[in-house]
Amino acid sequence: MKGLCVDKVAMMIKARRLVKDVDDLPAIPAIVSKVVNMLDDVDADSDAIADLMLSDQVLAARVIRVVNSPLYRPNSEITSVKRALLFLGFRSVREMILTSYFVGAFKGREESFDIKTFWMHSFNVGAIAKCIAGMVGYRDTEKANLVGIIHDIGKVILGHYFKEEYGGMLAMISGKPYTTYEAEVEVFGTSHCEVGLCLAQRWNFPPAYCDIISYHHTSELATEDPFLTAIVSLADYHSLASTPASGIVQATMPGRSEESAWNALRQLSSKPLPVDLDGFLLQLADELGKSSREADILFHSMALE
Ligand SMILES: [Fe+2]
Ligand SMILES: [Fe+2]
Repeated sequence: MKGLCVDKVAMMIKARRLVKDVDDLPAIPAIVSKVVNMLDDVDADSDAIADLMLSDQVLAARVIRVVNSPLYRPNSEITSVKRALLFLGFRSVREMILTSYFVGAFKGREESFDIKTFWMHSFNVGAIAKCIAGMVGYRDTEKANLVGIIHDIGKVILGHYFKEEYGGMLAMISGKPYTTYEAEVEVFGTSHCEVGLCLAQRWNFPPAYCDIISYHHTSELATEDPFLTAIVSLADYHSLASTPASGIVQATMPGRSEESAWNALRQLSSKPLPVDLDGFLLQLADELGKSSREADILFHSMALE
């Protein structure tokens, strides 16, 4: 892995070239991109967002199906979207719909890695990011969850469209102390961050989402929302560090990105934080014990349905 050079511009050019030749990139309905953008607009009215989401029959049917799933177990069957919204709350419905679309966009594609492990990691990072957001006083904890879930989408593109090379790369680093990010740069000259950014731009995601997908391994370079990028970067680190390495999910050591993310949190947090990163991660582990079941349930209802 010698000569690893993070030349963002060259990596971006390489990613665009790789993605340019792919003619069946995963798509999400235009309405979903629209909802994501409205959610990012602080002035957007939640009733207007709800109306937009529910004007789509597929979205509405999905809400009804999920609200009646074993995840929520209502006392009696819920058959109207309005009742589903009252039962679950608008934020949960919004989160559920968006995550199921993200997962659905990639369904049925063969990967060079275990897609369930991939989504488990993604949902886990979403839940941890939400938890960190609460600990540091980041105002939109749901957004932290959503960007956490999609931070690694570039891996699904590389793992599917460059199946053999990506599979070979994962086999090469298995059991070795290299992250997939480092190996991708070495093998492809780019990484899931730049490839994911190409997809996020294609999906018309807001700039902050694009930034997080692009910079979660180089958080010191983030400009749109450095606070949220720092949150996701540390959530990713915590998730990797607390999961045994398994091909797609390679354990990692705190590096420049994590140090920089920690500095950003210390400067931007509106709540008191422990003196060092180790102390913060301990406090985080404690907080997470309470919310891990939620991520588990969401994962099973979305990724495996
Ligand atoms: Fe990543
Ligand atoms: Fe990750």
